[in-house]
Amino acid sequence: MTILALETSCDDTCAAVVHADGAIGSNVISSQRAHDRFGGVVPEIASRHHLELVNLVVQQALAEAGVALEEIHAVAATQGPGLVGALLVGFSTAKALAAARELPFVPVDHLQGHVAANFLLPEGEGAAFEPPFLCLIASGGHTLLTHVRGHESFDTLGRTLDDAAGEAFDKGARMLGLGFPGGPALSRLAADGDPEAFDFPASGSRARGGRGATTPFARSLDFSFAGLKTSLLYQLRELTPEEQERRSADLAASFQSAIVEHLMLRTEQALERTGLDRLAVGGGVAANGALRRRLASLPVTVHVPPPVLCTDNAAMIASAARFAPELSYPHYLHLDAYATGERPR
Ligand code: KG4
Ligand code: ZN
Repeated sequence: MTILALETSCDDTCAAVVHADGAIGSNVISSQRAHDRFGGVVPEIASRHHLELVNLVVQQALAEAGVALEEIHAVAATQGPGLVGALLVGFSTAKALAAARELPFVPVDHLQGHVAANFLLPEGEGAAFEPPFLCLIASGGHTLLTHVRGHESFDTLGRTLDDAAGEAFDKGARMLGLGFPGGPALSRLAADGDPEAFDFPASGSRARGGRGATTPFARSLDFSFAGLKTSLLYQLRELTPEEQERRSADLAASFQSAIVEHLMLRTEQALERTGLDRLAVGGGVAANGALRRRLASLPVTVHVPPPVLCTDNAAMIASAARFAPELSYPHYLHLDAYATGERPR
């Protein structure tokens, strides 16, 4: 069983070929740098670029895997959530590829894909990370804690109430005058700073509903990053431009620490609550050095897939498709992509 998968939920045009055992035949990612000068992803531009790139990316994925289209057993694609115009390009292309050959089609939820990145067999690694485990996904679009009971059985314990963790990095970076995407730039600047120089609220576990807090929010494993952004704004207002410049590394380090500690707090609470002793981490923020160091200090087994499988890619979508129900031709032709919320059937 060999699966061809497409992923176009945001600004990366991705196609991959994955085999039944989770071995990756190819994993092609074409990143659209076209958005950087706007300081964020522009949906209409993303859709247009996907249209230009999608066929080339599929051809490259097949060529790199050494597999002909005739050897593909099923086609999968991200159905949502994401930018709906961007999703539609990959989703329609995948449906058309499947329909032309009367192949089965597997619609995949993007977040299920991030979790399923752990079920892949990356080159050089002996085994996939098998359920049960706790999974933390932190990317530019999502922040999620889920109890992974089986390959297709998840209990979501918490998600962000406002901004995603990566979005907090990006917005903080923009306020500090760094480029987009801001996470990597902010974490580089933070390397020379003191994480305790400034006290941003997410690091105060009590204020944000940590241990000992008494608000209803305290019982929730949801995340919130919007207040952090505001507190950086107020902090910057109190500093002169010269001070902002001189203390930029301290500001970055303290801001980063607040995000990391908030992620860690909820993760530790979830481990405690579920009794799980295995943790998987995914999403672009998993590349953050400070977070990785904190994760390594946890008294549980921590699995972080290689960076290329943590950020958006189609191999993770193919991986999820291995365990999801497939639809036979022509019972998928009516399906639509979805931006957020409930998945239509
Ligand atoms: O998973 P991803 O590539 O795309 C989405 O699905 O959003 O995640 C991108 C996010 C961006 O917000 C980026 O700033 C953040 O991940 N990111 C980082 C780092 N590398 C990427 N955040 C903090 N530290 C990093 N080293
Ligand atoms: Zn993602």
